[in-house]
Amino acid sequence: MHAATAAAFALTARHHGPLKGRVRVPGDKSISHRALILGALAVGETRIAGLLEGEDVLNTAKVLRALGVSVERRGEGEWRVHGVGVGGFAEPAAVLDFGNSGTGCRLMLGAVAGCPISATFDGDASLRRRPMRRVLDPLERIGARLIAATDGRLPLTLAGARDPIPIVFKPLVPSAQLKSAVLLAGLSAPGETTVIEAEATRDHTEKMLVHFSADLRVEQEGAHGRRIILAGQPELAPRPISVPADPSSAAFPLVAALITPGSEVILDGVMMNPLRAGLITTLIEMGASIERLATRTEGGEEVADLRARASGLHGVEVPAARAPAMIDEYPVLAVAAAFAEGTTVMRGLKELRVKESDRLAGAAALLRANGVEVEISADDLIVAGKGHVAGGGLVATHMDHRIAMAALVMGLASEQPVMIDDASFIGTSFPGFVELMRGLGADLS
Ligand code: S3P
Repeated sequence: MHAATAAAFALTARHHGPLKGRVRVPGDKSISHRALILGALAVGETRIAGLLEGEDVLNTAKVLRALGVSVERRGEGEWRVHGVGVGGFAEPAAVLDFGNSGTGCRLMLGAVAGCPISATFDGDASLRRRPMRRVLDPLERIGARLIAATDGRLPLTLAGARDPIPIVFKPLVPSAQLKSAVLLAGLSAPGETTVIEAEATRDHTEKMLVHFSADLRVEQEGAHGRRIILAGQPELAPRPISVPADPSSAAFPLVAALITPGSEVILDGVMMNPLRAGLITTLIEMGASIERLATRTEGGEEVADLRARASGLHGVEVPAARAPAMIDEYPVLAVAAAFAEGTTVMRGLKELRVKESDRLAGAAALLRANGVEVEISADDLIVAGKGHVAGGGLVATHMDHRIAMAALVMGLASEQPVMIDDASFIGTSFPGFVELMRGLGADLS
């Protein structure tokens, strides 16, 4: 079922008892989108294991089929993609619908920009509100043309470049989607496409391009940045991909275990890419008991089994420089901060305003509705933790899966239950969330 058309349903989380058990959350969303897209741009068959079968990724699979790529599901998480090569997409007969997914849409804008075809991109009401100008600007420099769009938002029609031009691009916002869109378009251009990031963002596209034999090098740029140089027009060679468990999904049972007294939960095979690990760093600074039980490499990424035990947390200051490494984790960190003793200041959260919903406002509203003192000051979120949370609130989720899950996590440890207006969007990134949490002992009904 399409997330945008799935019926809305309310859900309530209540404190019950400790959370206990060992679970594996679904595959990483970022890597799953990229596995399908790079598989489509390679020549031959890419085998994927552990693909996230959430609505967002299923929409990317559907879009690739509409572009003439054969994408088959062989079993749970087992997929095969028969790639058409760089620049090889066919013109789609219908609108490409990305549902709720900014990642699918922006990465595919890049991939289509390097092909001599036109395509119309659309999504649900949440995606239609999100900014696409940031991606369209560099893609137009590469040679793509915007045929129709309102205010740089969806729905829009893009004509890909007939003769793509390699560019040097310095993103004005730290965004892995933006970087990836330019690299994917740059695959079609002759010569070198360069992206210079002032702040490093998740590097899954770069790593996977190298895995598929692209000629790509990464150099340090300043204190926090990177310079990525991609040689265009490679023949990408298919390689097997094994998708590790998504740290952004693991964040929910992890924080639930930390704040629910008596809990002990083990999360298997969680990706520990340093550009995704900001939440773990922050929680440990707050006093969380999180142990890495077994660290190993799977599918080119460091993974670990994580043991989380209920912990007394204290407030901390989270620097703005850490935001790219935990950009999706602020709603659930705000919940952890509410259960901590003392004030937590999360700095530099401007990008949270343009996620699936305005997550800066949404995270603050979620806390406020449940009796937590919270303030937004410019782009900072300030939470006055009291060690316990009253709860009893009804949280508006605004088509945002992470606001929904963060609110439910709060309700597992608050004095009164927490209700959300709509749980249907959880399936965009974390199918099986409710069942997995119930398996650990959570009361969700
Ligand atoms: C993603 C990048 C981030 C993140 C999103 C996934 C990716 O978005 O919020 O969930 O896979 O590249 P931005 O690039 O907009 O920061």
